[in-house]
Amino acid sequence: MDRLATTFTGLNFVNPFILASAPPTESKRKILKAFEAGWGGVVTKTIGLHPVENVAGPKTIYQRTSDIKPYVSRMKRADTVSHSSWNWELISDQALEIWLPDLEEIKKTYPDRIVIASIMAGAGNDEEMKNWQKLASACVSVGCDAIELNMSCPHMDRKDMGANIANDEDIIKDILKAVTSAVDVPIWVKLTPSTSKLVDAAKVAYNAGGASISLCNTFPSLPLMDPETMKFEVEVDGLVTSGGLGGLAILHQALQRVSDISKACPDGAISGIGGIRGFREAFNFIVHGAGNLQVCTAAMEEKGSGGVGIKLIQELKDDLAEYLERKGHSSIEELRGIASDRIVEHAQVRRKSGAYNGGYAKAS
Ligand SMILES: Cc1cc2nc3c(=O)[nH]c(=O)nc-3n(C[C@H](O)[C@H](O)[C@H](O)COP(=O)(O)O)c2cc1C
Repeated sequence: MDRLATTFTGLNFVNPFILASAPPTESKRKILKAFEAGWGGVVTKTIGLHPVENVAGPKTIYQRTSDIKPYVSRMKRADTVSHSSWNWELISDQALEIWLPDLEEIKKTYPDRIVIASIMAGAGNDEEMKNWQKLASACVSVGCDAIELNMSCPHMDRKDMGANIANDEDIIKDILKAVTSAVDVPIWVKLTPSTSKLVDAAKVAYNAGGASISLCNTFPSLPLMDPETMKFEVEVDGLVTSGGLGGLAILHQALQRVSDISKACPDGAISGIGGIRGFREAFNFIVHGAGNLQVCTAAMEEKGSGGVGIKLIQELKDDLAEYLERKGHSSIEELRGIASDRIVEHAQVRRKSGAYNGGYAKAS
């Protein structure tokens, strides 16, 4: 029995683990290497119509902490463990015309793996809606199985792009209307976790034809300043800007948001992202409602893997398969969302004595 196989948004995955849109999926070379290593799919690095120029310095840093000196820093110290990634990398610097033949070749080489094209354009007028359609149609025409709409990049200057549209319901509807009328593949919607309107935005996205919500992108954040040197741990000419925090440090926040969406929309599909380093984190996303799992930072950090997580995917597959077999489950579907009913309001949790009235005065 193949316990790892899943069907998600109507697509058949050989296993539920895919590489998230980021450096591990930025080129044909890396994606082919990832598929050789065993990943079930990839979401490409976000493709736009205006290839970008990144900052003149490191685009990503890996922050670590240690038992002896438990501060968070990118500085090399003995006995450290991973805490997070911080990045200010923009979308793909490769033009659509270069991506298209590469995507076609990747799909032909690995027809059993799922290729999701991440795309991004602006909002607010017909021309931008046509840009979304152009990107989506082009990627589907070369064989991409699905599209992921990037509405969550935390470091765009343009106010009509990425996390800046902050789950604006009208914009979500307009973009989904445009893209669903242009292509006939599942549309995944990657929303920003950095808003109080997330659940409403997810509902709008599902109702407007989104097949799944992908969550989380990195959290908007600043890097740390070193008190000795007065330098930020990443900067260019002393300057820095808001970037994105990923990796283990965002796991709990990502789980809560996945749980919120799953409880509000129990029939909606969710691709869980944020801090997955092994089976235990993946398990937690599944029990809160995710039917697919995306990984970025842990793959990038694996030494000797060319940044695609060769050992990581083997371990994820082995550990999940071993768990499912030992516990007698035929697939992750039997575990999906089982924690939902146990996430309740504070007042519903037993007190040692008496009742808690949810913050209100007790009725006399
Ligand atoms: C260097 C870097 C670049 C990224 N670029 C993109 C991108 O182009 N599009 C996108 O949707 N997400 C992008 N992400 C976000 C990841 O896809 C993912 O949502 C996030 O890192 C959380 O997962 P993790 O905790 O496994 O890293 C990027 C992340 C990193 C670290």
